[in-house]
Amino acid sequence: MKINHNYQKLPGSYLFSTIAKKVADYSREHKEARIIRLGIGDVTLPIAPSIVKALHEAVDEMGDAAAFHGYAPDLGYAFLREAIAKTDYQRLGCSISADEIFISDGAKCDCGNIQELFSNEARIAVCDPVYPVYVDSNVMAGRTGEYDADKGTWSRVIYLPCTKENGFVPDLPKEVPDLIYLCNPNNPTGTTLTRKQLQVWVDYANEHDAVLLYDAAYEAYIRDEEVPHSIFELPGARACAIEFRSFSKNAGFTGVRLGFTVIPKDLIREGVSLHTMWARRHGTKYNGAPYIQQKAGLAVYGEEGQKEIQEQIQYYMRNTRTIYEGLKEAGYAVFGGVNSPYVWLHTGEMSSWAFFDELLDKAHVVGTPGSGFGPEGEHYFRLTGFGSYEDTVQAVERIKKTLALR
Ligand code: MLT
Repeated sequence: MKINHNYQKLPGSYLFSTIAKKVADYSREHKEARIIRLGIGDVTLPIAPSIVKALHEAVDEMGDAAAFHGYAPDLGYAFLREAIAKTDYQRLGCSISADEIFISDGAKCDCGNIQELFSNEARIAVCDPVYPVYVDSNVMAGRTGEYDADKGTWSRVIYLPCTKENGFVPDLPKEVPDLIYLCNPNNPTGTTLTRKQLQVWVDYANEHDAVLLYDAAYEAYIRDEEVPHSIFELPGARACAIEFRSFSKNAGFTGVRLGFTVIPKDLIREGVSLHTMWARRHGTKYNGAPYIQQKAGLAVYGEEGQKEIQEQIQYYMRNTRTIYEGLKEAGYAVFGGVNSPYVWLHTGEMSSWAFFDELLDKAHVVGTPGSGFGPEGEHYFRLTGFGSYEDTVQAVERIKKTLALR
């Protein structure tokens, strides 16, 4: 028997697992340290009241023979798909219908699984730095070629550098990719592409028969009118784009699990509908997100739910501002943080991991080393606004006090 040797090619463990282990080891050896975690983008506020109420009601239904729900429809309940289509798309003028929305247990799984629809010959392009799931899931599938440990790059991956020098706006690649992953607002840089900058990619994808895999997990943080909330706001996107959305960052569902993917019926490649392929995949490999979670998802779209989640987003954005302004005042070069819960800072001469170790040891603050998101992330570092306000203020104070700017 033979295992999938592509897994052996993956260097180290998943970024956030490595960090969790490092922090656990440090805590064990320094029991007195009160560690503030601004590393993984995990929320800290509890689920909002109207959503908790919906969860309770759905649980009660499951205990009542007359209201009990077994397997969910594998593409999602119509009540949720319709609420999403109306609120997230049609309200913005995007012609997305409920049956183009596939409910799932989260955007991470969908971002990782979508590559199954494409040939192993397909070339992928990713922003560098970027959310590690895009590259790692393609490594597992054997699509990325060989790893160059010195450069931290894969031979068959097309990298789109996003650095302070180019304002975190990727240039069109020299080689034509089949699949282009874009995350907007970007994780980890917290920076955004405007409507005009994104239109370049939509036109490019249509011209070259490429598919845009558009991760909009952080769209709820967008404040700038020039930044679209959905790729489908752009003309031509229905023929070339797939969009991923999450309930984790806007409504705090990291521990509940719910997300969705939008595949327009116009998205055809080699004469085949990607919508039909994804529906087939869902039907075969997935038994649908649980009724309880989907009812909670519906409450997110209720009047109360919308108000409550906006308050939570404001809370996290206040944290993000605190980090951004505090570090800027301390002399750091900081980016992102305006339309996103992530602040991206330059670590000067220090490597990202050296900065991580020093921050943990001297300030007892956890962040995420930029190099974990790709080679161009070296000398950068990510902090999240998802902590509590008190911890965030403390963390900034500690960083200012203990880390002299190099
Ligand atoms: C992150 O910290 O980048 C995110 O929490 C990862 C995720 O959402 O899966």
